[in-house]
Amino acid sequence: MISFNNVSKTFFAQFEAVRKLNFHVEKGEFFALIGPSGCGKTTSLKMINRLVEPTEGTISIAGKDIRDFNRQKLRWNIGYVLQQIGLFPTMTVSENIAVVPEMKKWGKQETKKRIDELLEMVGLEPDTYRNRRPEELSGGEQQRVGVVRALAGDPDILLMDEPFSSLDPISREHLQRDVAKLQARIKKTIVFVTHDIEEAMQLADRVCLMRQGEGVQIGSPRELMYSPANTFVKRFIGDRGRDLWETPVSEVMDKDSKHMAKETTLQAPSYPAPLYVFGDQRRFIGRLEPSGTVTHELMVSPDRPLHEVVPTVEASEYDALPVVDDDKLVGVLTYRSIVAYMHAHRTEAEGLS
Ligand SMILES: Nc1ncnc2c1ncn2[C@@H]1O[C@H](COP(=O)(O)OP(=O)(O)O)[C@@H](O)[C@H]1O
Ligand SMILES: [Mg+2]
Repeated sequence: MISFNNVSKTFFAQFEAVRKLNFHVEKGEFFALIGPSGCGKTTSLKMINRLVEPTEGTISIAGKDIRDFNRQKLRWNIGYVLQQIGLFPTMTVSENIAVVPEMKKWGKQETKKRIDELLEMVGLEPDTYRNRRPEELSGGEQQRVGVVRALAGDPDILLMDEPFSSLDPISREHLQRDVAKLQARIKKTIVFVTHDIEEAMQLADRVCLMRQGEGVQIGSPRELMYSPANTFVKRFIGDRGRDLWETPVSEVMDKDSKHMAKETTLQAPSYPAPLYVFGDQRRFIGRLEPSGTVTHELMVSPDRPLHEVVPTVEASEYDALPVVDDDKLVGVLTYRSIVAYMHAHRTEAEGLS
């Protein structure tokens, strides 16, 4: 969807802020640019919506050089969320959000429907918030409106530049979670800038770690953690996250999940999907389907470390996987519980809770 081909940006004909950067972001992917302050993340992001023009190299969107797009139209189709929220202070929440839809000449009804839908998705009750002004919102609420505004015109691409870094830790955590949920529904192509590796780990499918304008390593957060390209990557990622990924499944799984039921207690059809069924002595039987219980192949074992089972969880079409010890169903593992576990322990380590 978005390709950087040997992109460089030199300021004042001498300072190279970005140097021969290459990456490709897939459609629907959540891609993060990470790295220390000053490494060229913001400059790279701004080149995507042409707020900054590259000195060398090409950037293309859907196979087309971005210089061949009309600049205005390009911007309308790229939502942009900044650290400094930048809502118009004299306009209400809904007026702020409606800016792009109005430029796109959407109908009033359509725009209103879209605004309400998006406000709800980020946890802001439309009736309560629609007519408020920015000063009547907390920082976290303003940033939510910022996200909604960026999405209002239904852009294909969303750029986010450290959108949560000015927030207090609690609001940041809530917003991170809500954005992850939102993305699961809307599946935009997102390029996200952060200097916070943990934030990138939580949200991004893949990251590009930058240093002094160059791309150092591109891969999934786990790849950077387990196969760092060099000592810079190793140092930037740190060991703390790595220790957490060594935690066995048994410590993270839900032993009392609504996704498990004893065979005899079943009351179809109102059960949560998936539902894993066990018999006497917790012997794992399979997965309940409307047609009856079927064999379920994909399972994890309680003594495996999280980093080994995450690919299985990610590959599964089910949100929850059975944890099976010998032939016993001992718990259920969800991706959400892994993220929550990481988060809780990170918060603990930072003394935030
Ligand atoms: N408009 C500009 N003029 C001159 N130098 C700039 C400009 N914008 C950014 N820089 C420099 O380029 C480097 C990278 O900046 P930036 O992309 O903002 O980094 P990051 O977002 O990773 O913190 C920094 O050294 C910064 O001072
Ligand atoms: Mg920046």
